[in-house]
Amino acid sequence: MKIIISKNHAASSQAACNKIVEIINEKPDAVLCFAGGETPLEIFQNLIKMKNNDDIDLSSVHFVSLDEWGGLGYDTKGSTNQTLYDALYTPLGIDLENNVHFFDGKATDLQAESQRILTIVKELGGIDISLLGIGMNGHLGFNEPGADLELEAGIIPLDPVTKEVGKKYFDTELDLKVGITLGLKTLLASKHVILIANAEKKAEIIKATVEGEVSNAVPSSLVRNHASGYLYIDKGAAKLLGGHHENN
Ligand code: GLP
Repeated sequence: MKIIISKNHAASSQAACNKIVEIINEKPDAVLCFAGGETPLEIFQNLIKMKNNDDIDLSSVHFVSLDEWGGLGYDTKGSTNQTLYDALYTPLGIDLENNVHFFDGKATDLQAESQRILTIVKELGGIDISLLGIGMNGHLGFNEPGADLELEAGIIPLDPVTKEVGKKYFDTELDLKVGITLGLKTLLASKHVILIANAEKKAEIIKATVEGEVSNAVPSSLVRNHASGYLYIDKGAAKLLGGHHENN
């Protein structure tokens, strides 16, 4: 895994965006799996600017869903669905009907819903870029600490840390119990995995990701063994790292 440390979150978001654009330019029909949450929002804004300036052609890319809170859909502010449609797919002018494949967190059978998206991922030939925010506990999507390495897609009970941290996304208190997610097996099979994190509050989990044991106890650490794994962080998130890493 290559580690790129930038002076601030804006520079880190630009650097990660440049890497994404480089990959899409090489493969204009790339399959993209982008996280919601707060961390990627500046990357999304950069991509939208590039699209509006005609600096990138996204007419052939496909977006597949990474995760969603069980029970939520577009109508709940803070759902992954609303975040990604409003902050990314719609402003980018993506063909929502044919080129976006998103989990329905309100499906009555969430397990079947997870397999529906997994089938689409497979039909599309797998994921080219997984852009993943790192949770405070090291989760990727909703692959919580201890997640099954063989899971391709499924339902995962939310870790207490995720329930607590998750409150930041919502206006009202919600009783969230599970996440629907692509599994570690599918994510780690992506051609490129780009991890992102910023700010000092993520410094501990970044240290565990980079310098701790490679183990599903910290799912983000598993990307260290990926042939095309990247970690884009700002100085705050890098604060506890020893050793020499590329600065940007
Ligand atoms: C959330 C989501 C992830 C997200 C991560 C980090 O709970 N399940 O998909 O990437 O946690 O979120 P943030 O970027 O807001 O720190």
